[in-house]
Amino acid sequence: MAFKTLTPGAMLCPVPAVMVSCASPNDRPNIITIAWAGTVCSQPPMLSISVRKERFSHHILTESGEFAVNLVGEDQLRAADLCGVKSGRDIDKFAACGLTPVPVPELAFAPAIAECPLYLACKTQQVIELGSHDLFIAAIVGMGVREDLMDDKGRIDLQRARLVAYNHGVYQSLGGAIGFFGYSVAAPDVLARRMQELK
Ligand SMILES: Cc1cc2nc3c(=O)[nH]c(=O)nc-3n(C[C@H](O)[C@H](O)[C@H](O)COP(=O)(O)O)c2cc1C
Repeated sequence: MAFKTLTPGAMLCPVPAVMVSCASPNDRPNIITIAWAGTVCSQPPMLSISVRKERFSHHILTESGEFAVNLVGEDQLRAADLCGVKSGRDIDKFAACGLTPVPVPELAFAPAIAECPLYLACKTQQVIELGSHDLFIAAIVGMGVREDLMDDKGRIDLQRARLVAYNHGVYQSLGGAIGFFGYSVAAPDVLARRMQELK
């Protein structure tokens, strides 16, 4: 099939849309929805978020040097969208969305969002000015999972969280599992067992 070439854009998709919660001594807790987020290192665990300077959250993130990344399930999607179109300059987004801030042991200011499936507590290590966005590279210093998402073997069961993907301007639910890491080379009995477990 031939390609039609287009002006290049940031078309990496799908991506997660996460709610980043932040606070500083001078500001009430705020939430900004972020799609330009990604894992950048596993050992030590690190991630990045890209934030425009004009966002109200930008100065909170810079002043505090920390934030929490909260994963978004279908039940939190409406709130995530609102936190991505309204500014903390104008409203208290925790109150407006009926979300509950909970203290994060590893962080001094930023709360996590109690309703979200999982949070990653982050401490910023580096900020790189790229152009439209500043890239915040952070160490993941803590993590919490909603208790109802732990299975009876003590494993995280994120299938139950009904996580949402952001696909070129559209929010999408994830369909059922269609494979797992290494399934293309798994032995037939392992493949059958694991796929059954994922149903
Ligand atoms: C799905 C979605 C993804 C977004 N991703 C980003 C992003 O990666 N970086 C960014 O700076 N703004 C992003 N935004 C826009 C901000 O979330 C939005 O401007 C928000 O109102 C800023 O809040 P604040 O002014 O309280 O910081 C996104 C918005 C939505 C709805």
